Amino acid sequence: MTETSTLHRILDYSARADPYPLYAELRKTPVALQEDGSYVISTYREITDILHNPHLSSDARNLSRPTPAAEERDTPSFITIDPPEHDRLRRLAMRHFGPPCTPGLVTGMQPDLTAIVGSLIDDFAKNSQLVDIVDDFAYPFPVTVICQLLGVPREDEPRFHQWVNAIIDSLDYNPETDPPEKMNHGMQATKDMHQYLGGLLEPRHGRPGDDLLSRLANDDGPDGRMTDKEIISTAHLLLIAGHETTVNLITNGMLTLLRHPHVLQRLRGEPDLIVRLVEELLRYEPPVHIIPWRAAYSDITLADTVIPKGSRIILMLASGSRDPDRFDDPDRFDPDRQDNQHLGFGSGIHLCFGGPLARLETQIALSELVRRLERPRLVTDPPPYRPSPILRGPIHLHIEQS
Ligand code: HEM
Repeated sequence: MTETSTLHRILDYSARADPYPLYAELRKTPVALQEDGSYVISTYREITDILHNPHLSSDARNLSRPTPAAEERDTPSFITIDPPEHDRLRRLAMRHFGPPCTPGLVTGMQPDLTAIVGSLIDDFAKNSQLVDIVDDFAYPFPVTVICQLLGVPREDEPRFHQWVNAIIDSLDYNPETDPPEKMNHGMQATKDMHQYLGGLLEPRHGRPGDDLLSRLANDDGPDGRMTDKEIISTAHLLLIAGHETTVNLITNGMLTLLRHPHVLQRLRGEPDLIVRLVEELLRYEPPVHIIPWRAAYSDITLADTVIPKGSRIILMLASGSRDPDRFDDPDRFDPDRQDNQHLGFGSGIHLCFGGPLARLETQIALSELVRRLERPRLVTDPPPYRPSPILRGPIHLHIEQS
């Protein structure tokens, strides 16, 4: 079995419910050249090393064969660009999102988050014995939160939902094997989303308000102001990153608890366990499995292999977090794990910007589900999964409650 075919098997939908044995196969070759010239990195040490290497680029235009999307994009968001522009935009956005300028923002949201969670549970607890944790809870919760933060009307969700799906579908686009429509739909959805966000931004100029769009539109900090295009691409990034991943962490969390009833029971009596438990979930069942969009800015030597300039680099984050050379008994879900520097939020300069919010949302969501649902039972195991091998999680998670 070659590494190429192992990667193809991972990308195939049949592996979605349990890709972990295939990750173990991949790790036998930490830096594996693929038939198309790309390199797959699957071990903890090599992933961490390369994520801290200044010659690793997030800008797909640095690939020797850039994808059509990379060539055509107008103003990319800061997740797909390099320093110094990345650092400037991240700093400008972070002024309104966390320390050092807005240190209390996330912790101050705790009462609101608890109220949103409580009302979602009230709705399904009284209505039905059969609950879909995704549609009834794990999706609407982070969507409501990120809409409030950004200043995007919650009732517009049906409009942007379709665009987000098309954009996520295009993330694993492979020009060799996929029809061009897959990429074209993603690019059109990005244009539609930018136009929509532009419409929300326009009336906010000169009218400072509390939401992030207003703040970015009226901020004259030490780095100057973002252009309108930069604000739109930042809002686009935050809107998608702010919910597409958290929905999977909450759902993967509930699934894992139902598969480990002794831990679920323990959490009822030991609510403080939730902090370590969410950390272990980010290692054991992370929402982001693969970062497929890195490029070698110049030749990079990794584990005695020279990755030539312009090569595409695919980082198997979820495999790194299950690497037995880094974590004891990595396939065991162990919320008591002390040494848990997982790769759930990535590492290096693109380390997740929303980690504190995602952690708090998931801690509140799982704590309240466990507290309020007396006898939850999984209806289908494994549940059906969403198509993406990159942002991996169940599309539905039906549970019966009594
Ligand atoms: C459980 C939930 C989440 C997970 C697992 C997650 C995971 C990640 C990962 C792995 C990266 C690194 C990507 C890379 O290196 O290319 C990342 C970056 C990012 N995340 Fe998250 N994320 C989550 C929630 C959020 C939330 C709630 C927000 C915003 C409110 C957010 C905003 C971002 C942004 C803006 C970046 C790009 C950072 C940069 O390029 O400097 N994420 N996230």
